[in-house]
Amino acid sequence: MSRGPKVRWGILGAGGIARTVGADIAASPASTVGAVASRDAARATNLAVALGADRSYGSYEALVADPDVDVVYVATTHAQHRDAALLALRAGKPVLVEKPLGVNAREGREIQAEARASGLLCLEGMWLRLNPTALAVWAAVAGGQIGDIVAVRADVSHCFDYDPAHRLFDSALGGGALLDLGVYAAAFVLPLIGRPSNVRAAGTLAPTGVDASVALTWTSATGQVATLTCSSTTEGGSAATIIGTKGWIEVAGQLFRTEAFTVSTAAGSRTETRRLPQGNGYGHEVAEVERCLAAGEIDSRLMPLADSVAVLEVLDEARRQLGVRYQADEEN
Ligand SMILES: NC(=O)c1ccc[n+]([C@@H]2O[C@H](COP(=O)([O-])OP(=O)(O)OC[C@H]3O[C@@H](n4cnc5c(N)ncnc54)[C@H](OP(=O)(O)O)[C@@H]3O)[C@@H](O)[C@H]2O)c1
Repeated sequence: MSRGPKVRWGILGAGGIARTVGADIAASPASTVGAVASRDAARATNLAVALGADRSYGSYEALVADPDVDVVYVATTHAQHRDAALLALRAGKPVLVEKPLGVNAREGREIQAEARASGLLCLEGMWLRLNPTALAVWAAVAGGQIGDIVAVRADVSHCFDYDPAHRLFDSALGGGALLDLGVYAAAFVLPLIGRPSNVRAAGTLAPTGVDASVALTWTSATGQVATLTCSSTTEGGSAATIIGTKGWIEVAGQLFRTEAFTVSTAAGSRTETRRLPQGNGYGHEVAEVERCLAAGEIDSRLMPLADSVAVLEVLDEARRQLGVRYQADEEN
């Protein structure tokens, strides 16, 4: 059970993920959903009722001005993350921003600079980086269980019905497989082999001009190669394999919500399982925000903003090679 007052959350945007993560926030003993804001007041009220919040607002500005909101969760479409995060930070609120942090690295750096200047917690809701199985995989690799890393393969794919107005396909909303799905693969690879010295991307585009399927190679400064694939038009394996000089690790299930991995060496194989928390699986993300706030930390050690920005740099380069540009890329 939690000690002390609960963290009072405000949610910006009342779409799909707001409901899903909102339920895990409401279920945490140390948190409560205090308020929900939507561009549509009725939608805000509906979600507020569902999550047990006693306040709802028809504008994001009204929610960030609420003195009884301790932390803001940005659950909008990607292209709206930057403005919503800055709105919250400038109103003096710590913020959890859904993945990706922004649509490009420049937006990510803007958010990072504002968070630093305001001295407020800000982290990307990249739940894979808080996933106990993924943490155990990175620890097994760091502990030398498969020797030195030679290569990594990571796929995150999910088939969305094509609809030019859907956020996966609409450029104005930051559509594209890379920002929605490839972001997980990149967030997984970064702790393994660090920033790339070289990125090569190939792929196909949806009729709206955003990326639909992408294969990306990421070469580290010391020659390790990661192959990342993502697609919004296939149900891919959504799995990962890390190949080392003495063995390999296979990460089971969908990478973003994996619960098991197998380490194989000449001596044999062993599988480790770590279940996600009950509910919708976002409990660790909620707990990390609670922990950072209680400890007065403004940058999560597990999901630092520098890593969110580094991932966006990779995705920026891949999009540049594919010729996928957003309105935000035109800004100085
Ligand atoms: N961590 C995960 O597992 C996970 C899973 C799914 C999605 N996500 C992330 O969550 C975010 C939202 O995805 P979703 O699936 O919840 O999308 P969604 O159902 O379409 O909801 C997105 C919300 O964004 C708000 N919004 C603000 N400006 C908008 C605009 N100009 N056009 C459209 N919507 C706008 C809307 O809220 P109001 O109109 O109510 O203000 C809308 O309900 C994405 O960034 C995605 O990457 C994360």
